[in-house]
Amino acid sequence: MILDGKKISESRLARLKEGIDASGLFPELATLIVGEDPASQMYVRMKHRACEQVHIRSRGITLPASSTTEEVLEQVRRLNDEGDVSGILVQLPLPAQVDTHRVVEAVLPEKDVDGFHPVNLGRLFTGTPVYSPCTPKGIMTLLEEYGVEPEGMHAVVLGRSIEVGRPMAAILLNASATVTICHRRTRDLPGIARQADILVAAVGKARFVGPEMVKQGAVVIDVGTNQSGGKLCGDVDFDRVRDIAGAITPVPGGVGPMTIASLMENTFLAARLQSCTGAR
Ligand SMILES: NC(=O)c1ccc[n+]([C@@H]2O[C@H](COP(=O)([O-])OP(=O)(O)OC[C@H]3O[C@@H](n4cnc5c(N)ncnc54)[C@H](OP(=O)(O)O)[C@@H]3O)[C@@H](O)[C@H]2O)c1
Repeated sequence: MILDGKKISESRLARLKEGIDASGLFPELATLIVGEDPASQMYVRMKHRACEQVHIRSRGITLPASSTTEEVLEQVRRLNDEGDVSGILVQLPLPAQVDTHRVVEAVLPEKDVDGFHPVNLGRLFTGTPVYSPCTPKGIMTLLEEYGVEPEGMHAVVLGRSIEVGRPMAAILLNASATVTICHRRTRDLPGIARQADILVAAVGKARFVGPEMVKQGAVVIDVGTNQSGGKLCGDVDFDRVRDIAGAITPVPGGVGPMTIASLMENTFLAARLQSCTGAR
């Protein structure tokens, strides 16, 4: 079975738009890019397009690649203070001279629609999430839409980044899966991966996961977005794994669109929460 993230995200966005139109609220997403990295610019353009689709207002701010940490912090603080802005997304990675941790921590937790602020990650890890990071959240939505119930399953997450691997593990644990996280120092990674009922690949290496790492019938989630021979390609060797897996996400058209749908959902959630607390 192909887990069609594009199709599911379209239907989620259509439902979200109805919810936004009916709410009487005017959610707004502010994006902040530092520098001119073409990949970052493309991701942000896609996010703005999705905003338009669901009637979320958006504004894009670009700072020069030479910006200092203080200059980026100043911009974040301004957006924190803007009553009209429901959610703030700082596009990562930031240039090397900018302190990413300080910038991420400067975003008000209630506007942190990416879910990377330690308060939001802490809430996720204590089992009381408010804003979950968009990629893991989108993956859980996709599993749910296809009737995959992680409870009691062995989920193996390849990768331990703050943006994907760690929150993915936490969210699967919250769903009562038994979770293993693998990384570069893991011994016998293929042997562990082969035990997975749900295998999430988030390593950033083209076709890293081959058939020798996949149990018959496993659910395989490919987070990777790698360039290989001028084409976008995942962390999973799709053509060789698809016949072994019970269900698998394609790249493109799998996790990517679900990530964007989750960002839109988090932004509307932020607007709703802020309207309840009188912050807007
Ligand atoms: N589709 C989407 O919406 C979406 C969203 C976010 C990211 N992505 C993509 O997902 C991939 C992962 O992103 P990320 O931000 O998590 O990347 P990252 O920060 O570079 O983390 C990669 C992780 O993979 C592990 N790893 C790398 N090579 C390995 C190896 N040979 N064996 C075992 N573990 C290895 C690293 O282990 P160590 O910690 O030991 O170094 C690290 O924990 C990238 O391709 C990225 O572009 C896609």
